[in-house]
Formats: sequence, C-alpha cells, structure tokens
Amino acid sequence: MQNTPSAPLRILMGPGPSDVHPRVLAAMARPTVGHLDPYFGLLMEDTKDLLRYAFKTKNDVVLPVSAPASAGMEMCFVNLIEPGDAVIVASNGVFGQRMKENVERIGGELIHLDHPWGQPVDPERVRAAFREHKRVKLLAFVHAETSTGVRSDAAALCAIAKEHGALSIVDAVTSLGGIPVEVDAWGADAVYSGSQKCLSAPPGLSPITFSARAVEMIKARKTKVQSWFLDLSLVLSYWSGEGARSYHHTAPVNAIYGLNQALRMLREEGLEASWRRHMHYHKALRDGLIALGFSFLVDEPYRLPELNTVLLPDGVDDAKTRRYLLDKFGIEVGGGLGKFAGKLWRIGLMGQSASRHNVTVLLAAVEAALAPIKGQAAFGRGTGAAAEILNAPLR
Ligand SMILES: Cc1ncc(COP(=O)(O)O)c(C=O)c1O
Repeated sequence: MQNTPSAPLRILMGPGPSDVHPRVLAAMARPTVGHLDPYFGLLMEDTKDLLRYAFKTKNDVVLPVSAPASAGMEMCFVNLIEPGDAVIVASNGVFGQRMKENVERIGGELIHLDHPWGQPVDPERVRAAFREHKRVKLLAFVHAETSTGVRSDAAALCAIAKEHGALSIVDAVTSLGGIPVEVDAWGADAVYSGSQKCLSAPPGLSPITFSARAVEMIKARKTKVQSWFLDLSLVLSYWSGEGARSYHHTAPVNAIYGLNQALRMLREEGLEASWRRHMHYHKALRDGLIALGFSFLVDEPYRLPELNTVLLPDGVDDAKTRRYLLDKFGIEVGGGLGKFAGKLWRIGLMGQSASRHNVTVLLAAVEAALAPIKGQAAFGRGTGAAAEILNAPLR
C-alpha cells in the first residue's frame, strides 16, 4: 500500500472551500463528545444563536444541516413543495439549474425563468410570471451565483414573492458572511448556506433557516416529505431546544466545533466589518487584475466581491497557468464552467481568504505566470496597481 503524503498547505482562492483559520482547525481537534452529551447541547444552542446573528434573523428554526450545501438546498425543496405545487425557479447559472432539478424530482409544477449567464435575475420577469400563473406557491433563486459571480437582488425578489402570497427559497451559499444577507428584512422564508465559503469553516455543513410562515406550511403538508433524512420535523426532534432533544442521526460533532468557532470569529469581527473587508480586497484585486489584462465578466453593480469572474488575457492558457499557480505557489483558483470553460477564472476572496496577504501573493504569482507572455515588464504591474487600496486603511 502506498503512503499518501499529508495534505499540502494551500492558499484557497477558488470558488470554495476557502482558507480555514488555525483557530477553527484547533477547535475541531478538541475531544469528541457524544452527540447527546449535555456539553454538546450547549454548543448546539450557541451555534444556533451565532447562525441567527450571521443570517440576521430571529427565526426559531435555524441549524446546520449535517451535510454539504446541496443538502441544505434539497431540505428547503423537499419540505416546502408537494407534488403538483406550482414553483417559479429563476435561474442564472449552474446552481439555479439544480433548483429546477429539485422541483422536477419532487413532481412540482415547474415555471422556469432561465436567465443568461453573467446577468442577475430580472425582478420584472419574475413579477410577470406571478401575474401570468395563478396559485404559485413558491419562488426560488440563487442570491450569489458561484458559477458566474453574479449577485441578484434578494430583497426585491423576496418582496415580489410575498406580494403574491408565495414563499421564497434563497440560496445564500456564497453570500453568507461576505455580502449582506438579511433574512428578516427581506422576509425570506427558507435560506440555506454552506460552511466552506465566506464562513471559512471546512466543507460539509449547511446552515439553514426557516421562517415561522414556512414552518406552518410544512406542518400543514398533506403528503409525507419524500426524504427521511431531510424531513425538517424529524431533524428538529434533535435540533430543537434542550430537554426535547432526541436522536435522529449522529451529528458530525467535531465539524460543528469548527463551524461554531468560525461563526464566533465572524461575530468578533462583526458582520458589517466582514462585508467591508470582502469589498476592500475585491477592489484591490480588481485593480491589480485589470492592470494585468484581465477583464470582469459581470457589470459592476452585480459583481460579487467574494467571487471574481475574470476573462483571461489573450494568449494565457487556462489549465497550464492554474497548474503553475498551484505547483509553484500553492494557490488554487477556479476555472470557468459551461461555455466559460477555458476562458474564465473564478477567483474567490471568501472569508479568511479575503486578505491583504492573499491578494498580494496571487497578483505577484500571476505576474510571474504571465512573464513568459508579457515579458519582465509584467512584474510589479498588478501588485503596483493594487497597492493604493491594499495600503489604505480598512474602513
Ligand atoms: C451557490 C451554490 N449553491 C449550492 C452549492 C452546493 O454546495 P456543496 O458543494 O457544499 O454541496 C454551491 C457550491 O459551490 C454553491 O456555490
């Protein structure tokens, strides 16, 4: 049997996972306790409170699903939709397409509003679909589309759903902690995220929250939730308050230690300060990349600071250059998906990865990668252009 070497140290600047702080890794190395241990009960309640802070909600139902964000997505759909329910899915990339899949598999009546990749969801199209189709139960969309780096207007979309008496499902996987996610102010009904993006915990957990309205709707279901594992009522037998807690599944205890610590760090920094930090380093990266000949796919008002989608300068080989960054500098950046494969990079500045260190090292590494094409003059061009913002105080 071959000995696999231990994991290398990387600088994670792709579409997730992001860099995990040593404090989070240290928390995960604490002794494992039982999932029904009184200590763990306290940690669960603390984690729920920290998630309420991150989601900006007073919702009673908030918890980390014991699985990656795809399971958070599925939990929203299987609990809120019954066969025959009319659902509008407004998609603008890979993850919106998965929402559509969910509705189809449940047997919902799908009203699919497909948008061009690189564009946000159009509230006017959504409004028109509500006017055209009566009895729509739910609107679903992705707040921050990781496949394209686009932010849609979640406040406006949730408000349209509400005006028409419908519920909303919002994918906040790439937005939570990085840009404003305001569950209560939006009036969103089901919102899920992932541990591995702007929260900077390792992958594998999906924070989720449901409004009181959504919980009422779930209680009034006529049919059984098709997934046993993701049936909210069953999951709540474990995650609801002290005293009522009983076994549903064996929670990933150490992973929750890690998420708890990452959320604690977010609260110490402050949510608004975290949003400002993501924007600050995005602007520095933007200036550096533009000086090196990259161009942004997404128009400025819809750009995600935490996920930069940039078209490659002429003559730059996507796969070879990303491999160079990984091999020579330990830096991971993401490639384009679908029609953008080979033409675009997805550069994450998520959570701990949104830092002066990461932006500086990436720009310097890209300069070195481009030197054979652009000549020695490439050196200093990106870092120089970013310097003003990099050196400005973070406000
Ligand atoms: C917007 C969005 N939704 C859902 C997912 C699925 O998350 P996971 O890979 O953790 O299942 C991702 C993952 O990148 C995502 O970016």
